[in-house]
Amino acid sequence: MSKPPKIFILNGPNLGRLDLRDSSIYGTMNFAQLAEFIEAEATKVGLEVEVRQSDSEVELISWLHEAADAKFPVIFNPAAFTHYSYAIRDAAAMLTAPLIEVHLSNPLAREEFRHTSVISGVAHGTIAGFGPDSYRLALLAMKELL
Ligand code: DQA
Repeated sequence: MSKPPKIFILNGPNLGRLDLRDSSIYGTMNFAQLAEFIEAEATKVGLEVEVRQSDSEVELISWLHEAADAKFPVIFNPAAFTHYSYAIRDAAAMLTAPLIEVHLSNPLAREEFRHTSVISGVAHGTIAGFGPDSYRLALLAMKELL
């Protein structure tokens, strides 16, 4: 069997300051620890990942373009952009390999503005509400898809 492609793990605004956010919602890991956790879980299931985070819509879009051109699958936590960025949705719609949306928290159990995801409609599926384990579960799901 051929080697699965590298997976981009993209993370949106404010996730780089995870440890400074509400710990009752986001836990206590900082972003570097989250990235380490994701990399370790990926190694366990034999997947190669590249973890990135940006607060910039422009940069996230350019990474989605990069993934589309390279045919890389994407596991994506668009953070607050989830709820309103049509530009990110349009870029995500152009991906050429599977996209899985992830969230640490369960947005549907939170404020009403978080109940809409403009990304879900172009994702293969969404995993939300399991903290860092959302990424681990997404890696398992991605492994099945590839
Ligand atoms: C989040 C949920 C979003 O509503 C929020 O804006 C975030 C993080 C999550 O991982 O739970 O920044 O995507």
